[in-house]
Amino acid sequence: MNADQLSATSARAIGLDVDALTIRGGKPLQGRIEMKGAKNLVTKAMVAALLADTPSELRSVPAISDVRVVRGLLEIHGVAVETLGDTMRLDPANVESAHETSINAHAGSSRIPILFCGPLLHRLGEAFIPDLGGCHIGDRPIDYHLDVLRNFGAVVEKLPTGIRMTAPGGLHGAKVELPYPSVGATEQVLLTATLAKGRTELQNAAVEPEIMDLIAILQKMGAEIQVDTDRTIRIEGVDRLVGYSHTALFDRNEAASWACAALATGGDIFVGGARQPEMTTFLNVYRKVGGRFEIEDDGIRFWHPGGDLKPVVVETDVHPGFMTDWQQPLVVALAKAKGISIVHETVYEQRFGFTDALRDMGATIQIHTECLGSHACRFGQRNYEHSAVIAGPVMLHGTDIVVPDLRGGFSHLVAALTAEGSSRISNVGIIARGYERFIEKLSVLGADFDVDG
Ligand code: EPZ
Repeated sequence: MNADQLSATSARAIGLDVDALTIRGGKPLQGRIEMKGAKNLVTKAMVAALLADTPSELRSVPAISDVRVVRGLLEIHGVAVETLGDTMRLDPANVESAHETSINAHAGSSRIPILFCGPLLHRLGEAFIPDLGGCHIGDRPIDYHLDVLRNFGAVVEKLPTGIRMTAPGGLHGAKVELPYPSVGATEQVLLTATLAKGRTELQNAAVEPEIMDLIAILQKMGAEIQVDTDRTIRIEGVDRLVGYSHTALFDRNEAASWACAALATGGDIFVGGARQPEMTTFLNVYRKVGGRFEIEDDGIRFWHPGGDLKPVVVETDVHPGFMTDWQQPLVVALAKAKGISIVHETVYEQRFGFTDALRDMGATIQIHTECLGSHACRFGQRNYEHSAVIAGPVMLHGTDIVVPDLRGGFSHLVAALTAEGSSRISNVGIIARGYERFIEKLSVLGADFDVDG
């Protein structure tokens, strides 16, 4: 199926051409849904295919708009991409430069273009990235990425339209210490170091499961990568990499989101494809709040057992901590818990914007600039509103919401599903960036809603 056929048949199911939903709340979500590969791995695995000189095959690719963006960017750089069901074949035999205007047009609001730089510098000696978007959840700078690339020998030139990079002397191994264990900057190092000349040592690396899966892919391609217990990653550059064949790790962010939807709506959802090892921290919190779960070989069942939910104190952190992408739908469930909960966000400085809409729906949530967790984080002294105090239980009431970002948007869906009355949620296309076929899944789970337009 080509890109145009794909867009014609599935845009509606994906949720891309849907602007708004009217949700009538109060119905518990019940049923079974299936997870595909993780957005935050699949998009990077697609970029990794650029490093090879033979084709790669990636399975369990979700139909989400971030995958489309990366596919478009690969295609304008000469990579032949074909999909059959959820399997994607990527052939990088004819990689070529793309025009700035096409890169701008295809990049949309994604931050992934920054990860094209290392592979393109290896393949073409040059790369261009437009002004980057992504969800508006803080400053989201790219300074670590640019420093990393400079360390490898890239020459970085800032233009009015974006950033141009060249590597006149090729890229060489480097010693890098990240100021913070950034997921993207760690991936930047991995994707650049594997073909760089010589040895690379990365200290203070992020070791999220999606990163470990990317390392597994690179190892299949012929890369030499060692992860030490102190989060130091050592990479020995090789001369060539070959294509990989890989089934992507499941999307633990999506799994956690539906788990919270089950809890907040008093429902019972079996999340097919979810696995325990990557979710142990989430499961601990889920149990503390009063949710139940049952681990099966083919997925995890999440449900609300009845009675009161309990308040919790949670701090988001890098792996193996509680993920920043898990807190938004959890906050909706916490609004229903009896007592005071605290969520201290330590990964992004501004990730509580979504609570404005929850307050409009009747939630009692206060946002503070102090670190309300057990340790002071890097945002505490800088006046960022990054701690939330949630008092419950409250009955939410329906309202109109414009979705601000991916995870916040999903939490608004959950809030509307639990609320009394109806809510009109617009700008839901943003949710399709990372939640595969969420409209179909809502139907399967028995949600009461209409698609507007
Ligand atoms: C990845 O973003 C994910 N995105 C995010 O998921 C996820 O929330 C985040 O990792 C943390 O797990 C993708 O994988 C596409 P970071 P990334 O670099 O790599 C600061 C979602 O909803 N920083 O680990 O961009 C940054 O501002 C998305 O699925 C710099 O200061 O995150 C943040 O405070 C949202 N300079 C912290 O590091 C830089 O150059 C962690 O960001 C880079 C990052």
